[in-house]
Amino acid sequence: MKDHFSEKSKTWDEGTVQVQGAKTIADAIKNDIELSGSMEILDFGVGTGLLGFEIAKSVKKVYGIDTSASMLEKLHKKNTSELSIDTYCQDIIKEPLKNIFDGLVSSMTLHHVEDLKAFFETIHKNISSNGFIAIADLEVEDGTFHSDNMGVFHFGFDEENLVKIVEESGFKNVKYRNINTINKPNKKFGVFLLTAER
Ligand SMILES: C[S@@+](CC[C@H](N)C(=O)[O-])C[C@H]1O[C@@H](n2cnc3c(N)ncnc32)[C@H](O)[C@@H]1O
Repeated sequence: MKDHFSEKSKTWDEGTVQVQGAKTIADAIKNDIELSGSMEILDFGVGTGLLGFEIAKSVKKVYGIDTSASMLEKLHKKNTSELSIDTYCQDIIKEPLKNIFDGLVSSMTLHHVEDLKAFFETIHKNISSNGFIAIADLEVEDGTFHSDNMGVFHFGFDEENLVKIVEESGFKNVKYRNINTINKPNKKFGVFLLTAER
């Protein structure tokens, strides 16, 4: 499996955009979703755990899935006996999980998923009835957010198209709202949070 994050993983947790961005996403999720101490949550594209560890403070257990062994290696070093994330190193579409979770969270990973319909139909099977998804990513951009667009299949997402795909995959009460603006030199990039119920 190709690890597109082998270089980025080395300094991922030093990036303010990454660290602050994940914190803002975690705060927005906690605002929109009632998390509880009995929940088992899957973080899709968990990376080094920037979002997952924030969510883990409010639930029973966070599991993380990611295709990058190097990102997961960084995550494992941050696990403690008080707060830890169990991980799967695999592609959820090619090798679906059999487990059922109370919810799925995700930060800045959806643009790496080529087939959105296959993704949402797959994860629909992994969420318990009345469970939730809370997925954050870039609003439509011009392809300049990443310095290297290797492994990037979408230059952000527009509300209408994304909501339609999520609804057609069986989710209900689908909501999309802006939660952050990332300021880069000469350009601003919007970040959305999409939430839905199973
Ligand atoms: C931009 S990083 C975000 C990491 C983390 N969620 C954060 O906010 O810091 C995207 C992550 O998604 C992972 N990824 C990309 N495609 C994936 C796929 N098909 N399945 C699982 N993880 C994937 C990458 O390896 C990388 O760790």
